[in-house]
Amino acid sequence: MPIIKLDAIDSTNAYLKKLIASKTSEDFTVVVAKKQFQGRGQRGEQWISEEGKNLTFSVLKENNDLPADNPFLLNIIVSLALFNCLNNLHVPDLKVKWPNDILSGTSKICGILIENIVMGNTIKASIIGIGLNANQTIFHNVPKASSLKLLLGKTFDLDELLSELLKSLKSVFKDFQESGSEKLWEAYLEILFLKDRPATFKDTNGNRFMGFIRGVSTEGKLIIALEDNVKKEFAFKEITQLY
Ligand code: BTN
Repeated sequence: MPIIKLDAIDSTNAYLKKLIASKTSEDFTVVVAKKQFQGRGQRGEQWISEEGKNLTFSVLKENNDLPADNPFLLNIIVSLALFNCLNNLHVPDLKVKWPNDILSGTSKICGILIENIVMGNTIKASIIGIGLNANQTIFHNVPKASSLKLLLGKTFDLDELLSELLKSLKSVFKDFQESGSEKLWEAYLEILFLKDRPATFKDTNGNRFMGFIRGVSTEGKLIIALEDNVKKEFAFKEITQLY
């Protein structure tokens, strides 16, 4: 597994995109940077991370061995890999907030941005971008953010942490190859934040509504039981979960 270590880059996801275009990339190539000038987050937001304090990296996954009829599976594999690794470090009260934010209690410690490289109708490769707050202790204007250091009271060696995370990622991919996706779906739903509990959401018009999370569709839509127990599916662009 090639690991490219950079001091600074716009975005490790963008770096891998260019590498794929140059056709010199290899499955499971990893790019890690001490600093990103334009770290990308979900919903077009920026991912801000203090230089040298956290893990900001991307992994290239060529999609030839992932089933096309199970597009959310990659999100599940990545979420479980991070969850398992952080659980081994004894991070308390871990949960995955749909689709794949990692929370400790109600604090976000890790964000994931998966970007697909599409050719025609098929996903040629996926770029798995991961930002894990490790040793940063001050977060300006991000009230729900936390880090491993804040939660566990010690400083982490970023190289070791990266190596543990990659090991965990490989291991969940192996589980899938050996046993299929069913168990992974079950494990994901077990750790889903606020599953079967009253939860609040906001739609694209800013309207708030309550519901119970009942599951996730194979496409990756959140299944919510609304009033009168009517179930409805929502895509990531359509709602924000408030917490
Ligand atoms: C989120 O908004 O929760 C997703 C954040 C993903 C951030 C990571 S940091 C490494 C990789 N490169 C990027 O530009 N973004 C992802």
